[in-house]
Amino acid sequence: MSVSRRGFLQGLRVGRTAEAAGAFMAARGHEEHVAELLQGSGTRTRLTPPGANVIRISSNENPLGPGKAAIDAILGKFPEANRYPFNSSPLDADLEILIAKLNSAKRENVVLGVGSQEILRNAVRVWMSPTRHLVEPSPTYDICNGQARQLAFPIRTAPLDAKLRIDFAPLLPLVKGAGLVYINNPNNPTATVVSAKALADFVAEVRKTSPATVVLIDEAYIDYASDPSVQSAIPLALSTPNVLVARTFSKVYGMAGVRVGYGIGMAETIKPLSRWRMPYNVNTFGVAAAIASLKDPLHIKDEVARNAKVREFTVKALADLGYKSAESQGNFIFTDIGKTMTAAQFREACAKQSVMVGRDFPPMEKQWARISIGTMEEMQKATEVFRNVLKPATATTAGGKL
Ligand SMILES: Cc1ncc(COP(=O)(O)O)c(C=O)c1O
Repeated sequence: MSVSRRGFLQGLRVGRTAEAAGAFMAARGHEEHVAELLQGSGTRTRLTPPGANVIRISSNENPLGPGKAAIDAILGKFPEANRYPFNSSPLDADLEILIAKLNSAKRENVVLGVGSQEILRNAVRVWMSPTRHLVEPSPTYDICNGQARQLAFPIRTAPLDAKLRIDFAPLLPLVKGAGLVYINNPNNPTATVVSAKALADFVAEVRKTSPATVVLIDEAYIDYASDPSVQSAIPLALSTPNVLVARTFSKVYGMAGVRVGYGIGMAETIKPLSRWRMPYNVNTFGVAAAIASLKDPLHIKDEVARNAKVREFTVKALADLGYKSAESQGNFIFTDIGKTMTAAQFREACAKQSVMVGRDFPPMEKQWARISIGTMEEMQKATEVFRNVLKPATATTAGGKL
């Protein structure tokens, strides 16, 4: 079937949005579609989308992208792109209400962000100061840390345990007088988890030692966790002052480019974050896609099962080469490659063979590399590259886990 650009745009006008766009892209190809849309705009056209020729397993993205419901929702909003979000439907309030409803909470318990990064950065601005420090394990996801450094706010860190899990014992003595404690569960870059009980006990201790300190629990990857001891801390946040959870649509929902995240907690905790939020920070397309995704839980279940299978394959392939990984509960693994090379050397060697793996994670960059889980086909190719790049290390271990 041939679908012209004019036909596509006409389709949008008459409301056959998703159907018209889908048919157009299928018929003409995505690159051609992008090139054609850019034609004559003075913008340099790019016929190949970035990363088309490489295996990109560097940013913990969902390799399959959003589900059909989310894509249809985005395409369906094209005709309203001229309108401000408050003149479109659904509204960002609808998304807040839906998130609240799914968590037996109210709209005032939820704040939307441009990805969960906005929640993390604003938490630093709201609760930290030159005299109210950040506490976090090391290594962990470094957005709070980076924002605190930018603002010259003090940071105190404690190491992980021997299995690369967050260790609450050395963190606890650091919390008195802290502005913010950041706990990422599962933790990026290690992909390890802490149990719901250990986390709740830690929060109770923080509340006793330093009641004004806010605990931010980042659950970007929690949908991927199958360990039965792990549960979302959202109920804890909704019933405990100064605790909030950050969530994102960037990972299991496959919408990293759409930029939608949220914070959830007691209304008094959420209120100052809402004040820092830019008006209409989440756009019309993001709101529509997030709502559609939340109504499509089956898609998430499939993605979690797919990821677990490919992750198991990848961990085993590396173990067969003699390289152990930390116990992963996420869509990425953290692998000890230190017998052969540093993370930077591994990254460069893989990049020469068109496989892009994760960045350095100090203080573990001399020994550990983070590898995101792509599709099975991508990981079959990537593990062949790993085989070429990494010298076989001695002694494999069952399952290859720490
Ligand atoms: C632990 C963690 N939190 C938050 C984020 C940010 O995600 P978002 O795309 O929602 O800003 C990431 C991104 O990789 C992450 O790894």
